[in-house]
Amino acid sequence: MHKDVTRILYSKEQIEDRVREIGRQITKEYEGQEVVFVAILKGSVVFLADLIRNVELDSTLDFATVSSYGNGTTSGELVMKKDVSVDVEGKNVIIVEDILDSGKTMDYLYKHFTAKKPKSLKSCVLLDKKVEKLFPIKADYTCFECEDLFVVGYGLDYAQYYRALPYIGELNPSVYS
Ligand code: PRP
Repeated sequence: MHKDVTRILYSKEQIEDRVREIGRQITKEYEGQEVVFVAILKGSVVFLADLIRNVELDSTLDFATVSSYGNGTTSGELVMKKDVSVDVEGKNVIIVEDILDSGKTMDYLYKHFTAKKPKSLKSCVLLDKKVEKLFPIKADYTCFECEDLFVVGYGLDYAQYYRALPYIGELNPSVYS
């Protein structure tokens, strides 16, 4: 275990099992249709890579960059830094995110992508934090509902580090306090 992680919340194996389940669910629900996965950089890339290999559908990928946290733990202004490069009008879009925290980013993304007139718009998140949501949004597919802790690993960062950890763990508060 990494020295800055106090405990593992979701092991590599637990994540694998849950991502496989979610992948099966998506496969079933969109049977006979195509989907476009829109991954929100950077936190979702590890999850995306595993998710798409568990979905047996014709799918395409694109990426968007929204920034909300800056380099620390305090929430800041939301900026769409990079939009998708494909036309999603008339397509089944699934937004892939690593974490649903206040709901601010997902609320912004729903509005942004609804305006592009997709055939359908759903969201798939790795973690939904058990916090009071500023924007009351539920993802269509959620791998885990997690406690309100500073979590890192499996794509999730603190100041851009720890994304490559194969598990999701709690970051030692001494690292950021
Ligand atoms: C994180 C995460 C979500 C957002 C969730 O992004 O990836 O996009 O915060 O928070 P919210 O529900 O309170 O809006 P971050 O800006 O840390 O970027 P990253 O994906 O590059 O780590």
